[in-house]
Amino acid sequence: MTGSAADFDLSGRVAIVTGSSQGIGLAIAQRLREAGAAVMRNARSVADSGHEGSDTAATDTAFHAADVATEAGARALVAATLARFGRLDIVINNAGLQTRGAWSDINADAWDAVMAANARSVHLVVGAAVHALRASGSGGAIVNIASVRAERPGSGMSHYSASKAAVVALTRGLAAELGPLGIRVNAISPGLVDRPGLEEAWPEGVARFRQDAPLGRIGRPVDVANACVFLASPAADWITGVNLVVDGGVSLVR
Ligand SMILES: NC(=O)c1ccc[n+]([C@@H]2O[C@H](COP(=O)([O-])OP(=O)(O)OC[C@H]3O[C@@H](n4cnc5c(N)ncnc54)[C@H](OP(=O)(O)O)[C@@H]3O)[C@@H](O)[C@H]2O)c1
Repeated sequence: MTGSAADFDLSGRVAIVTGSSQGIGLAIAQRLREAGAAVMRNARSVADSGHEGSDTAATDTAFHAADVATEAGARALVAATLARFGRLDIVINNAGLQTRGAWSDINADAWDAVMAANARSVHLVVGAAVHALRASGSGGAIVNIASVRAERPGSGMSHYSASKAAVVALTRGLAAELGPLGIRVNAISPGLVDRPGLEEAWPEGVARFRQDAPLGRIGRPVDVANACVFLASPAADWITGVNLVVDGGVSLVR
């Protein structure tokens, strides 16, 4: 038997995590660092409430403000990563926008905003990163954060669900096209993940999820982060094109 705990070690690797000023993206960035990677974090806002200590002082983390739904933003993020760390091995496409509204109320601008933040951003960041991932020699890994809503749209979520279904389909297409270049591409579909104020804002929904969940709780950002580190690591070297559902079993029962 070959393989060891070292398969989960990301020392010497460099990762980009889009949309990582807070929430799930911040947890992913922290877990990647704990696994040994240097991490370039990103969001549109320069206000960076989540940075651990001082990003400018730390040698294994940095932050670059950019809108990854634009070609210029995606390119600038990859360029800043190469300038700071000299290589790129892992891309986590986590940036996203969730708005709610009845399908009939979603005008063209609202549709475009969600599709751009959630799906076009993945297309653009991968496009900007693919050359550097290939050049890293480590076998690049891309993880796209989709949603259980990709396959189970709920009322008021059709535009968001469509954007996440696009992410899942794009993941599979990219896995087929980039596999021969040595680059793996996978998706994670989280279920409901906790965030500050969620329970106060939506007590009945959270209670319903808890009651239905086979594992008895809603998600924590770190639940998604742990799955992400696995898919980005050499331990997942023969896994590409999957959509890993991380939802405590909720989609089995509702
Ligand atoms: N929370 C959940 O229950 C849940 C469930 C399933 C899937 N997801 C998915 O998981 C991901 C993270 O969710 P979250 O709840 O942690 O989100 P969040 O708290 O709203 O954080 C989103 C992050 O993305 C950044 N962002 C948004 N648009 C961006 C853009 N165009 N360019 C660069 N950064 C951008 C935001 O910062 P700025 O606004 O400053 O740019 C922020 O850092 C999203 O893709 C979401 O759809 C979440």
